[in-house]
Amino acid sequence: LPKALYGAERPNSAGVELGSREALAGLEAEIAAGRKLAEAASIIGGKAGGGTPRPVLSPIDGSPVGTVTEAGAEAASAAMAAAAAGFHAWDRTDVTVRAAALDKAAGLMEARRGMLLALLQDEGGKTLDDALAELREAVDFCRYYAAQARKIFGPGEHMPGPTGEDNILRHRGRGVFVCISPWNFPLAIFLGQVAAALAAGNAVVAKPAEQTPLIAHAAVKILHEAGVPTSALHLVLGDGRTGAALTGHAAVAGVAFTGSTETAWAINRSLAAKNAAIVPLIAETGGINAMVVDATALPEQVADDVVTSAFRSAGQRCSALRLLCVQEDVADKVVAMIKGAAEELKLGDPRQPATHVGPVIDAEAKAGLEAHIAVMKGAARTHLAMAAPAQGTFVGPHIFEIARVEDLTREVFGPVLHVVRWKAGRLAPLLDAVAATGYGLTLGVHTRIEATLAAVAERMAVGNIYVNRNMIGAVVGTQPFGGVGLSGTGPKAGGPNYLKRFAAEQVIAVNT
Ligand code: SER
Repeated sequence: LPKALYGAERPNSAGVELGSREALAGLEAEIAAGRKLAEAASIIGGKAGGGTPRPVLSPIDGSPVGTVTEAGAEAASAAMAAAAAGFHAWDRTDVTVRAAALDKAAGLMEARRGMLLALLQDEGGKTLDDALAELREAVDFCRYYAAQARKIFGPGEHMPGPTGEDNILRHRGRGVFVCISPWNFPLAIFLGQVAAALAAGNAVVAKPAEQTPLIAHAAVKILHEAGVPTSALHLVLGDGRTGAALTGHAAVAGVAFTGSTETAWAINRSLAAKNAAIVPLIAETGGINAMVVDATALPEQVADDVVTSAFRSAGQRCSALRLLCVQEDVADKVVAMIKGAAEELKLGDPRQPATHVGPVIDAEAKAGLEAHIAVMKGAARTHLAMAAPAQGTFVGPHIFEIARVEDLTREVFGPVLHVVRWKAGRLAPLLDAVAATGYGLTLGVHTRIEATLAAVAERMAVGNIYVNRNMIGAVVGTQPFGGVGLSGTGPKAGGPNYLKRFAAEQVIAVNT
């Protein structure tokens, strides 16, 4: 394929050289200055919603990060009505104005990165490099979708037709989009969905995960300040019942959802059960993500990439590696190197720059992972069982060897890696077994044989395939991200086809 070059129109948000003492000290000072107890409530029509406040506690050590007031399911219909009332004015707003608001929000986020990074760390439990990468991704989403919107949502495109007729195809917003986002990327995925829906001319009701309301609230305030009207963007804080009330509302014109496959099914059912407009669901869910390693792979590089893919972000990425499939001939060596590399990981307070692995999001997540680990200890061979700090909600990285791919039946969302061996000449049945999970989000391949790569890419219906590198951290505009099958509907976030799914198409045929 011809190589695409970076276009001047889309530079990604700049990074920080965390290896430089001065740069790190400067960033830490910004974060310290930005750190304060935060407050969040729903925002409906620009007004704070009511409810009973509760403290938001940090997964790092249980200390207070702020207070959230959840509105409850009854606020859902108020927000939907307010969004329906705000839709037409926003949809009729020139796309250049909509895009300019998103660009401005991107700039404001960069300018206020201390506050946002503090929240990503304290509320989301993120390490400094993860927090920084997430902030940059959020900024990139805003700028990328602004640029895409300018291309797609202009006056329209003339279609070929007979003389005496003018045919124009144009894109418009669909109406009220409900955006339901997860806690693992509380800023980037939250903003990615919201920015896309807004760029396309929709009014938005956003419902972030109940674990991370503070950062979502801060993001909405920034979007409003940047020029998104309070009639076009509403925030509803609450749990899954609030989400269900939103997706069950008659005014829904589309849903963007990132989270579990089970919840995506429930949303689909709820949308189908209404005798109302037939609307799109853009779902991004999980995966039993595999990496296939053959005997030609470089073991040192495999070890590094496996540790990054399975354990960084405490394994709490939908892209993370869950199932390592190593060719038997090299398995002992490769697993020993992975174990050695994993043992170098520093677990603990993610606000310390030396920390590699922070906490999992909450006590419920920790309990679920510990239950899985207990089962695996009885059923599989344990290669690694790292201890975790007692305070906070930490889970140490674990590696278990299972006999067959089929022994892993669900996504385990944390720092737990499963290893399976495959025999030379048996790649095809291995790939069939991985494909039979029904998931298709990310897949890693480590090989120096082109035919192996070709066989894997040909066989596997997977959204993102990463070859001889780690398999996390898709970059906006460079690795459009999203899966197929049980892993989601597409289109890919951060890619050129995303916005069109948020849009309604209209053709105007004029007899001239
Ligand atoms: N977009 C994220 C990644 O690529 C997904 O969780 O890691």
